[in-house]
Amino acid sequence: MSEKLPNLTGCNSPEMYKCAHPAPYPEIRVVRQNPQYANLLLEDYTGQASELTAITQYNYHHFMLEEENEEAAALLECIALVEMHHLEILAETILALGGDPRYRTIKANGEGSYWNPSYVYYGSELCDRIAADIASEWAAVVNYRKHQQMINDPYVKKILERIILDELYHIELFHKVVKKYCRSFLKRDQLNSSTKDTP
Ligand SMILES: [Fe+2]
Ligand SMILES: [Fe+2]
Repeated sequence: MSEKLPNLTGCNSPEMYKCAHPAPYPEIRVVRQNPQYANLLLEDYTGQASELTAITQYNYHHFMLEEENEEAAALLECIALVEMHHLEILAETILALGGDPRYRTIKANGEGSYWNPSYVYYGSELCDRIAADIASEWAAVVNYRKHQQMINDPYVKKILERIILDELYHIELFHKVVKKYCRSFLKRDQLNSSTKDTP
């Protein structure tokens, strides 16, 4: 059996991420180690609204929608690849800060809580899934913004800012799917919520 690995040149270059914002990614570096900052980033890495949840959720939606809507399924896979890159960026930053990027979050009392597949919104059709995907992108942006305020390290702030650019771009892409395929779903949803509001 040949021991030669395939040619991997370009496998980790930004050009391969077709669903990423075109801005370059900053260098992964930190001013100094800080395990508290590493713990904050663990929430973005592998908490409830995290990169790991986004990867698994978008992949599941991709598998389930391949027959129903090839275009949306392809977009979900394309975005999942960018989320995998974010996972890698966060893992490298957590390591640089002196943390261990296992798939768990750590509470203030030091207690660890492993990532759980119940964090994923599995859904039932295209439009409820894309609506949940948009909500998870917004949840990620809110967490990144909160952590930017709490982390006093200009290099880490810059890394988070760059990831936020991608998440905002993903929201834009998902909105295109909503506009193209989910107009009736939105009307139905609005109708449901307005009847719910009526006593
Ligand atoms: Fe992400
Ligand atoms: Fe995203």
